[in-house]
Amino acid sequence: MIDFDKILKEAQEELNNITSIIDLNTFFQTYLGKAGKVTELMKLMKEIPNEEKKNFGLAVNNLKQTISQNIEDKEKFFAEKKIQDSINNTKLIDLTVPTNKKIKGSLHPITIVQEKVINIFLSMGFTVEDGNEIETEYNNFEAVNVPKNHPARDMQDTFYLDNGQVLKTHTSAAQNRIMKKYGAPLKAIFPGRCFRNEELDASHENTFFQIEGMMIDKNVSISNLIYFMKEMLTQVFGKEIQVRLRPGFFPFVEPGFELDISCPYCNGKGCRVCKQGGWIELCPCGMIHPNVLKMGGINPDEYQGFAFGLGFSRLAMMNYDITEIRLLNSGNITALSQAKIK
Ligand code: PHE
Repeated sequence: MIDFDKILKEAQEELNNITSIIDLNTFFQTYLGKAGKVTELMKLMKEIPNEEKKNFGLAVNNLKQTISQNIEDKEKFFAEKKIQDSINNTKLIDLTVPTNKKIKGSLHPITIVQEKVINIFLSMGFTVEDGNEIETEYNNFEAVNVPKNHPARDMQDTFYLDNGQVLKTHTSAAQNRIMKKYGAPLKAIFPGRCFRNEELDASHENTFFQIEGMMIDKNVSISNLIYFMKEMLTQVFGKEIQVRLRPGFFPFVEPGFELDISCPYCNGKGCRVCKQGGWIELCPCGMIHPNVLKMGGINPDEYQGFAFGLGFSRLAMMNYDITEIRLLNSGNITALSQAKIK
């Protein structure tokens, strides 16, 4: 006689000890697989005498179904346990805790002012040219009428490379190249980074930005210079700006000027920034020296032109209320992003 109850009891005890889904599979094979214990019992069916077949059949079936059901239950248990475990292992998220604020990048004040000025000059028909940061001594000095041993070189002491080239001291270094490239007439601006061997302080840096402008045509005069500068500055500051010229010496212009603007902080009334004078010195400029035109391949008897060299770093500082020039090259995001946008 086969003791079905005993088999079931043993199976259930075995099942109780199972703790993994892999062992559960093995258990399944042991009882219900091809050569499993229950399967083997079913194969006995044909050897059972007819009168016992019914009871035997019922008992085997019952055993098979009970074990199947037990396996299914255990499977369900494992599946639920897995979910429960993953819930228990999940760290609770507190949605009320303040997060790290994402800091959005922004353009550098120099870039913003540069784009503003470029757009204004583009709208007035100027082209935008590139200049080199490493220049020949010729382009930086000789071609703008500063011969070797001329005292004006002292004003722009710079960094000399082993090959005799220099880090350009001013955007004027591109004048000669541009004149030769386009000839006259021409209207061009050329922004760029410049370098000088400076004693550093709040308003002097060894690396700074300028934008140079040049207009060469027949009958160009100082009036054209004043018009373009006034127009550009009025747009940059977003309010009517007055300009005035004072004599200034630069070997590459004749006559040369210092251009002052009416103080944009107090509209010329006098304040701390303009030291009560109402005017702020902004930009050297002048009529291009005939020698410079000649060296650029342009006939000075036929053409005249004006040029200016606007200190961008200076303009950006005024536009954004930055009082320390060294901040501009510092990469100090906290300080730069505090620059007050006007
Ligand atoms: N290149 C001069 C400087 O950097 C500025 C300048 C440009 C002056 C054009 C006159 C004309 O000091």
